[in-house]
Amino acid sequence: MKYKLAPSILSADFGRLNEQIDLLRDKVELFHIDVMDGHFVPNISFGAPVMKWIDKGLFLDVHLMIENPEKYVEDFIRAGGDRIIVHAEATDDLRGLLGKIVDLGALPGVSIKPSTPVESIFEVLDVLDEVLIMTVEPGFGGQEFMEDMMPKIKELRAHGFEGDIGVDGGINAETAKVCIEAGANLLIAGSYIYGADDPLERVELLKRSFA
Ligand code: DX5
Ligand code: ZN
Repeated sequence: MKYKLAPSILSADFGRLNEQIDLLRDKVELFHIDVMDGHFVPNISFGAPVMKWIDKGLFLDVHLMIENPEKYVEDFIRAGGDRIIVHAEATDDLRGLLGKIVDLGALPGVSIKPSTPVESIFEVLDVLDEVLIMTVEPGFGGQEFMEDMMPKIKELRAHGFEGDIGVDGGINAETAKVCIEAGANLLIAGSYIYGADDPLERVELLKRSFA
């Protein structure tokens, strides 16, 4: 299993975003970009016009916490998104939306909120590159990790899913270990990394959970 770490830029200083990304770019496999529209989640972050200024040459996971994702996936792929993660709860035609992402040249992923059962995405596992398990209610950084989401990860692996399983929300050096043990291979961390005085140290601490 290839383990990966993705800093979430939501907790970074947007005034010097590329500098904050540069600090970690050689230490991590990818970056996690949180897009919020104030409708699907009760918070607004930024859209494709901002995202396109993020340095190229990085692998970008785009976590779309928005309504009508069908309407916007193309913008985020054009803005540099390599893998587009849509919420299962945000669409009536999940398979169609994932097909659209692939047709536009990006990798498809799906995220589920804490209240959404993992069985609801079993029917699309065959086309997914990533499943993103929310370990907090989406919308804000800095919330407390929900350990009761771990059975979802175990069920996915038991069901034979071999793609990336990401965990998003409340990840720190301790909760990371719990997630890896459950079968996750992709850690997303925002405030634990960018909220620290020494983000590089936090990256090293998180990577220890891969050992
Ligand atoms: C929450 C976002 C997360 C967030 C994680 O809705 O999807 O990616 O940035 O932040 P932390 O790591 O602070 O919980
Ligand atoms: Zn996220």
